[in-house]
Order: sequence, then C-alpha cells, then structure tokens
Amino acid sequence: MVDTSDDWITSRTGIKERHILKGENQGTSVMGVKAVQGLLEKTNTRPEEIDLLICATVTPDMMFPATANLICSEIGAVNAFSYDLMAACSGFLYALSTGSQFIESGRYKKVVIVGADKMSSIVDYQDRTTCIIFGDGAGAVMLEPASENLGIMDHILKTDGSGAQHLHMKAGGSRKPASVETVAAKEHYVYQEGSAVFKFAVTNMANVSAEIMEKNNLRAEDISWLVPHQANKRIIDATANRMGVGADKVMLNIHKYGNTTSGTIPLCLWDYEKQLKKGDNLILAAFGGGFTWGSVWLKWAYDPE
Ligand SMILES: CC(C)(COP(=O)(O)OP(=O)(O)OC[C@H]1O[C@@H](n2cnc3c(N)ncnc32)[C@H](O)[C@@H]1OP(=O)(O)O)[C@@H](O)C(=O)NCCC(=O)NCCS
Repeated sequence: MVDTSDDWITSRTGIKERHILKGENQGTSVMGVKAVQGLLEKTNTRPEEIDLLICATVTPDMMFPATANLICSEIGAVNAFSYDLMAACSGFLYALSTGSQFIESGRYKKVVIVGADKMSSIVDYQDRTTCIIFGDGAGAVMLEPASENLGIMDHILKTDGSGAQHLHMKAGGSRKPASVETVAAKEHYVYQEGSAVFKFAVTNMANVSAEIMEKNNLRAEDISWLVPHQANKRIIDATANRMGVGADKVMLNIHKYGNTTSGTIPLCLWDYEKQLKKGDNLILAAFGGGFTWGSVWLKWAYDPE
C-alpha cells in the first residue's frame, strides 16, 4: 500500500505485526466487550456486580453516546454507570487513576477499566508515516478494594495542550464538522508530526517514570516490571535506561500489536500476567496525544491462579 520495507519498520519502531478489526458495523465496543467478558469469566464476576465502567478511547463507536455505555449494555452490566475518557495514548493510565479514586473513597467495590481503540478507523493507509505504527486492540482490568498494602500506590499525570499542534485529527469535531471538503482533504485521519512527537515522548515518558520512583524512594532494584505504552521500541528503551531498569524487566509486545493507543498497557498486563507475583512493583508509563503523559506505581495484588 505504501513505499516502505519490513526492515525500515522493524528498525525504527520494533513493530512486526498489527491486528485490524474488520467487518460492517464493528466498532471499538466489539473489542471492549470481548475484553470485559474475558475479565468477568476469569474473576468469576457477574456483570450485575460492576459498579462503574470507564472506557479509555479516542475511537468511540459514535461521537455519542459513550462506548462505555454500549459495552455495559452488551455485557449486561445493568447496575453500572459508565463513561468514556479521552487522553489518547495515556487514556488507560488516566482511566486507571480516575477509577481508583472511586474505590479509595469507599463508595464503590468493583470498577472496570477498559482501554480500547480501533485505530484502523482513523488511519490513512496511504500515509506511510502513520499506517505502519497503529493497530486495533483492547484490554480490561478490574479494580477492587485491597485489604493489604497492595494495588495502586501512586500516580503522576500531566497534560500540555500546546502539543495538540503536533498530533491531532483536523476535522469531525465542533471546530470543523465533517463535510465533503474535509473528507476530500483527508482530515478525518490521524495527523502526526512523527519526529516532534518522538522528541517529546522520549523525554517526558522517561522523566515521569524517574519522577515517580524518586517521589516514592523506589530504586531500580525495587522495580519488578516497567509496563510502558507501546508506541516505539526506542522510546521504551530510553525510558528503561533512565530508570536504570534492565530489558528483562520491561514488558514488550509492540512487535505483536503495534500501537493500539488506549489498548497497549492492558494488553501488556494480559500477555505477562502469568509472570506476575503478589507484591511485585510495577511502573506503568505512557505518553500520547494532547500532549498527555504519566506514570502509575502499583503493587500487584495476587499470585497467578
Ligand atoms: C513515526 C516514527 C516511527 C518515524 O521515525 P523517524 O525516525 O522519526 O523518521 P522521520 O519522521 O524523521 O523520517 C525519516 C525519513 O523516513 C521516511 N519515512 C517515514 N515513514 C517511513 C516508512 N514507513 N517507510 C520508509 N520510510 C519512511 C521519511 O519520509 C523520512 O524521509 P526523508 O528523510 O527523505 O524526509 C517516529 O517519529 C515515531 O515513532 N514518533 C513517535 C510516534 C508516537 O509515539 N506516536 C504516538 C504518540 S503515543
């Protein structure tokens, strides 16, 4: 479709494979539903027990209502309230931090966080600078009150709206509604100035990961896993270096899925879950459009099985 090569893609990004959701009327919620159904089965939870479901996404099924509502309706979460949260590639971290507040307040007992994006719906497959990066995917986690000193310990979230110029979608919002002209001008696709975004991402994702360690007196040897947003292997390597964490402690699956935006971090947890042990210190880190970025320190709350 574009003038590129496997060698260029692999050496610049680390990506080997991406997954695309195909078929008529298949929106992001389709993947979200599957992720949540798997989660309910694994945790032996009935859908009626869910108090709140937050879906992080930049590719909602529709402008409104929220994709979270569609997911709840499909899975039968009749007692939940739900909403979407949009923070691009940091969406899952923002949603995780937001959801954890509802648990910490003591008000709710079961909060589901979904990270899901159908990036193929907003990628121009004639643009070689973006179409090689993004893929479709979703993951979900459940937050519950902990009786021991485990779970989400701290988070640092940041935003800089002046970064919007480097990564955005030009049309389809209230500033420039969809028209024949906007479609012809390809303004409903991801617009990205790759090297500018790269520079901000590499510095800020590394800094915010180091910051959460310093703030909590965590040394490199205390960290069991770095769980980084999967946008580019070079950004991940720079973050691990800055933290002093070896490659054997870095969750990596960008080669399998590419950048699934809100989906990358829950997909990493899914792929590595069997290797996690109760009490493991995980640092989750992300950078994305907005600009948005942040880190979460969590202590994994259970052993496998
Ligand atoms: C997009 C990205 C992979 C491009 O890599 P890069 O090393 O920065 O490459 P550049 O954009 O500087 O382009 C270098 C050259 O490769 C070319 N190129 C771009 N995409 C290409 C592709 N798929 N195949 C072959 N060549 C390509 C460019 O046209 C440019 O050619 P030129 O020097 O003749 O103009 C990289 O910038 C990146 O990962 N950025 C951050 C993306 C990101 O994290 N986005 C989401 C935020 S979460």
